[in-house]
Amino acid sequence: MIDENMTDIPNNSQPDDSQTASVEFTGTARPDSDQHRVSVFTAVGGQAFFDRLVERFYALVADDEVLLPLYPDQVNLGPAKERLALFLAQYWGGPGTYSEMRGHPRLRGRHVPFAIGQAERDHWIAAMTVALAETVPECPLDAELQAVVSERMTEHFSTAADHMVNQPG
Ligand code: HEM
Repeated sequence: MIDENMTDIPNNSQPDDSQTASVEFTGTARPDSDQHRVSVFTAVGGQAFFDRLVERFYALVADDEVLLPLYPDQVNLGPAKERLALFLAQYWGGPGTYSEMRGHPRLRGRHVPFAIGQAERDHWIAAMTVALAETVPECPLDAELQAVVSERMTEHFSTAADHMVNQPG
């Protein structure tokens, strides 16, 4: 069973906090067992899931005439991939490596140097939607839980991307 309290979206007061999210499996096979909670990070297969997701996402960025010009190092997207993959892993309940390397996420502030309007936001979301659709089916969850993970991540990305918009129009 899914924990509907699975938190994910940054709230308004601290929009860049890397909160974590979880899926809760209740003991349907062993009804009298204690409830067992695992993080989304663990449930989807750990860092490998986020690495694959980000690899696919950046393959699309590399081909996107709206997104690619924003990247300071368009020739070597490797470090940008690593930062995003570690951030997402941490956000969804994995190890705190991103914050150890980069400090507090403060993502809106980190995006200020890049002009992000609605078009950039929409391209980012379109690429991530494709990457998710390709990656989630590979994770070791049944179809019902995959749908939940997909929905939660889609919601999160949509809200977070809105938050990065720093240009009118
Ligand atoms: C709305 C559209 C967005 C655009 C156009 C955009 C663009 C960028 C660019 C150009 C960078 C610099 C690349 C680098 O790391 O060198 C960056 C970094 C990053 N972005 Fe975004 N981004 C968007 C949304 C998001 C969202 C929704 C998230 C998270 C859910 C996110 C997470 C990150 C992270 C973690 C970094 C690295 C930050 C750091 O440690 O320096 N971005 N983004």
